[in-house]
Amino acid sequence: MSSSGSRQTSGPPSPDPGPPASVPDYEERAAALLPRTIFEYYSGGAGDEWTLRENRAAFERWVLRPRVLVDVADRDPATTVLGSPVSFPVLVAPTAFQRMAHPDGELATARAAASAGTVMVLSTIASASMEDVAAEAPEGRRWFQLYIHRDRGLTADLVARAEAAGFGVLVLTVDTPLLGLRDRDTRNRFSLPPGIELANLARSLPEVEGSALFAYMAERHDPSVTWDDLEWVRTLSGLPLVLKGVVRADDAGRAVDAGVDGLVVSNHGGRQLDGTVAAIDALPEVVEAVAGRVEVLLDGGVRRGSDVLRALALGARAVLVGRPVLWGLAVAGEAGVRHVLDLLRAELDVAMAIAGCRAVGEVDGDLVARSPRRGDAQAR
Ligand code: FNR
Ligand code: LAC
Repeated sequence: MSSSGSRQTSGPPSPDPGPPASVPDYEERAAALLPRTIFEYYSGGAGDEWTLRENRAAFERWVLRPRVLVDVADRDPATTVLGSPVSFPVLVAPTAFQRMAHPDGELATARAAASAGTVMVLSTIASASMEDVAAEAPEGRRWFQLYIHRDRGLTADLVARAEAAGFGVLVLTVDTPLLGLRDRDTRNRFSLPPGIELANLARSLPEVEGSALFAYMAERHDPSVTWDDLEWVRTLSGLPLVLKGVVRADDAGRAVDAGVDGLVVSNHGGRQLDGTVAAIDALPEVVEAVAGRVEVLLDGGVRRGSDVLRALALGARAVLVGRPVLWGLAVAGEAGVRHVLDLLRAELDVAMAIAGCRAVGEVDGDLVARSPRRGDAQAR
């Protein structure tokens, strides 16, 4: 995804570009710093990358309708998510192999998320083990993302270890029976650089012609998982269970009926099935189907505080960010991740103030509408 923004485009080049002012600035700098194969694995999506672009474009089709003359002198974007207090409604999405961005990888992300007062979701295929990550951040600041393996004993063991290490919520990713086909990774023969492994599993990736990650997942992960397996997953621990990767009302309703504790509306950042509906456009139907019974989160394309505000207005309890954290990590390790989160928090704070909201509880559905430029402006 190309970055955008209003960086200087004329006049003599500045010797000091100044501090990054936004997530797009971080993306631009990360692109210049990371080896191409790694940057393309992080930034890329499935197929023609239409959904990757659409996740962003769709935000721009929801316009904000600020309310004026509200006393916003005292503001606080703090909230709770699945019972965890957070200083603002932005969590860190699970992303694999963070040590490719920075040697401290997931350890730095865990510290940054905790110090920013929010939650990090650690991937099953992280490049730092859950026990090592647990040592970096207090309980209440970290959840664990699960992929179900063909080896159910190994899957059960991952969950038991996560619970023992104090991860507070289990996030089961359900949009990945197979990894999406990502042309960039195929062309790059994406594999892990030396010294980086799947630390929770003490494994590396196989040597293959195309994407080693695709091959690994096809071999090890279980594509036969169904609704019937949710009950089994629940028996593995006492942790609240969140399903990540739902984009349909019927699936959302079924998940709630099955007793899940939360949902993440997500298309995996455009990395799974190209052509899938943008996350923000899938949110309203999921929120409607859930009807307040569980919390609904969203990820995919969140790059600005105003995106967070739109998602809250459409009924999300909170959002998660994936790539923005990787860009922060690549540019400046823990401090970079912390700065990315701080930028999003500051943008949300200003957006809420200008929209007339002192607290997230004051963000309502009337703050957004379909853009009149969309062609079906009356579709609200
Ligand atoms: C991901 N995502 C992901 N999701 C998951 O459940 N387990 C995982 O291991 C990964 N790994 C992963 C790696 C990379 C490099 C990316 C970019 C994404 C998906 C992630 O949790 C989230 O859904 C998206 O990243 C959200 O979109 P944005 O914020 O990146 O636009
Ligand atoms: C990805 C997997 C790891 O999106 O979820 O690359």
